Amino acid sequence: MVANLVVELAGKLSGKAMISADISEDDLKGAEIESIAARIRAHFGDSDLPRIVDRQLLREIKEGITLEKAPVEIEIKEPTDFKPLAKEIEPIFSTKSIAPEKTSATVGDFTDYFNDRFMRLREMIERGRSGISIISSIDRIAQYTEGRELSVVGMVYDKIITKKGNIMITMEDETGTVKVIFTKMEGKGAALFENARKIALDSVIAVKGKLSSPFIIANQLLWPDIPVKNKKLANEAVSIAFTSDVHVGSKLFLEKQFRRFLEWINGNIELNKNIAGSIKYLFVSGDLVDGIGVYPNQDKELTIPDIYEQYSFFFDLISNIPEYVHVFVLPGNHDAVQRAEPQPILTDDLIKDFRQSNIHMVSNPSYVTVHGIKVLTYHGTSLDSVIRNVPGCNSAKPETAMVEMLKMRHLSPVYGENPIVPTKKDEMAITEVPDILHMGHMHKNGYAEYHGTQVINSGTWQSRTIYQEKLGHFPTPALLPVYDAMKGNISSMDFNR
Ligand SMILES: [Fe+2]
Repeated sequence: MVANLVVELAGKLSGKAMISADISEDDLKGAEIESIAARIRAHFGDSDLPRIVDRQLLREIKEGITLEKAPVEIEIKEPTDFKPLAKEIEPIFSTKSIAPEKTSATVGDFTDYFNDRFMRLREMIERGRSGISIISSIDRIAQYTEGRELSVVGMVYDKIITKKGNIMITMEDETGTVKVIFTKMEGKGAALFENARKIALDSVIAVKGKLSSPFIIANQLLWPDIPVKNKKLANEAVSIAFTSDVHVGSKLFLEKQFRRFLEWINGNIELNKNIAGSIKYLFVSGDLVDGIGVYPNQDKELTIPDIYEQYSFFFDLISNIPEYVHVFVLPGNHDAVQRAEPQPILTDDLIKDFRQSNIHMVSNPSYVTVHGIKVLTYHGTSLDSVIRNVPGCNSAKPETAMVEMLKMRHLSPVYGENPIVPTKKDEMAITEVPDILHMGHMHKNGYAEYHGTQVINSGTWQSRTIYQEKLGHFPTPALLPVYDAMKGNISSMDFNR
């Protein structure tokens, strides 16, 4: 008999290790060759020693897989003293995912994408600001006489500090460019200058000022911004829990803490049981797993070196959420879908046969309305570029960058640092004003309220990585924000203890 499975395994090892003659076809029957090969490669790593897979090693590797596949032992009993109120409340929700759009990403596609972004954001600036008449296009500036006041909208193409310490930006639209000066001032004009410091490249803004050819000397700066509104509250006593960055498969995944959270939401832990029982909705905003090959030498940082097994373990865990809690799951930059945003929902090959009626796959980003509250959930990959480009934002306070995104009405305002799909309609623009803006990615919990919108960054379940150490970042793992949708306040549940 030809040893097909042995040959298949040898092929998948691609010369990285030899298979000992004591391994027979029977030893591999029914096994997942792909995941065994992945583990063998991870086992040997960069070792220079002779790499031979013998029967003993094969047995250990197979046992490891069986152990990981064992169902997660969370006791789902109904404790007599746990009467979750959320179970008695009918779910009311709708999701709005972005369907994948195929583009060949030509220069023309990007031009169309930026035109759409510009028109959308310009409209937002004009809406509700009827007192300001904005000229229709930059080329019309030529018709204005020196010293006249005018307002103009453009996309920020360049921003520099002049020798005199002023800020000079170049704005453009499809008809031309104009340079705008924000004069360095103290006292009355200082606020305008400080605001101008926050202008990010590629954002769309309006400027009012005096024409002093070839410049406009700005006296007002307008962002698309979100309108000021009252905080939207639910009319039933439900809570919404927010999380992200689980990183299943990483050596640093805090499995014990995550299981503690699962025990808690099932009413098995004596800790704010009334809050646990009020949770009707849970958002899991990306980096569900650590992934494979996301950064160099990642294989050394993994306990599960197989992407499908990482997802299988993630879904094993998440299946322990009580069925009356509706869970919205979206991908992030570590997940195995296309890296460019918007990212589509997880594909069937990752979900496999996991189907549970209360677990909903949504795109990154997505609008999900729960009990009348509109949540915009986005992994937050672009936070890095916003923090780098906007003075005053910092990674220890991710909510600062999230507020800037609301002002810019865009989830990926800085082009070039975070890949985007040039869709016909700019899906990263914040077209609808959310009641809650939720992100993760920074592994740091952070909260703010801006113009009546609740801003939440939901931290992580991964302890401090070497990369974060190098950057001097301190994550806040295993903290779960729970938003009381009727009262509008947040409780932070700590599962580190
Ligand atoms: Fe992450």
